[in-house]
Amino acid sequence: MRKKIIAGNWKMNKTVSEAEALSAAIKRELDTEAKVDVVLCPPFTAISAVSQAVSGTQIAVGAQNMHFEPSGAYTGEISAQMLREQYCRYVILGHSERRQYFGETDAGVNKKTVAALAAGLKPIVCVGETLEEREAGKIEEVITTQINGSLAGISEADLKNVVVAYEPVWAIGTGKTASPEQAQDVHAMIRGLIASLCSQSAADAVRIQYGGSMKPDNAAELLSKPDIDGGLIGGAALDALSFIAIVKAANEA
Ligand code: 13P
Repeated sequence: MRKKIIAGNWKMNKTVSEAEALSAAIKRELDTEAKVDVVLCPPFTAISAVSQAVSGTQIAVGAQNMHFEPSGAYTGEISAQMLREQYCRYVILGHSERRQYFGETDAGVNKKTVAALAAGLKPIVCVGETLEEREAGKIEEVITTQINGSLAGISEADLKNVVVAYEPVWAIGTGKTASPEQAQDVHAMIRGLIASLCSQSAADAVRIQYGGSMKPDNAAELLSKPDIDGGLIGGAALDALSFIAIVKAANEA
């Protein structure tokens, strides 16, 4: 049985004081006995404050990006070690916004995934097709390229620490959610790709989150599908009650 994982991707939102207030509210509302993994991914500047706010709870902290080198002349970048020092346990890699606005490629995501795993961080590797690609019947081709490229060369033991997030680009921030059946189809395909890339036992262990307009009112149905192991939440993670409602839906799924 895979443990479900609900992560909030706060994107470029929340100052330090706002992040403290949001994480304190989530901590207050969250049943101490949440049966699922809960991860908060604030912007870099608020990671330290959020780590402090949730210390001693089961809520984990993650970052939204990192560089693949441990240190060096990479102006504006942050390394895995720096994130570990701030008590991060997860890092989102290859989010479609990074691919779209910052030119991230599967090869670059692969280097970051390898570096994150080596540093003891659990990468949340994002994949997903655009509307154009979906309408052109290219879902399988696009996802296969992204999975094979992003996860190339990762050992079976390491793959078990990878979380994959399927985020159809057309569903992000649009209010349009993939139907549970559409999402399940792609999740099952991703699991099959991991089995061919590595092994069936790695594929059975890897958790695959859905992301894209997941909200309290659609979470339960999405999370009831056999290959949907959690959610990567954008907009609804910026509100404590919505985020907690999604965590509760996962608890009961
Ligand atoms: P929304 O939940 O706002 O659609 O964002 C999803 C997402 O991009 C999470 O990484």
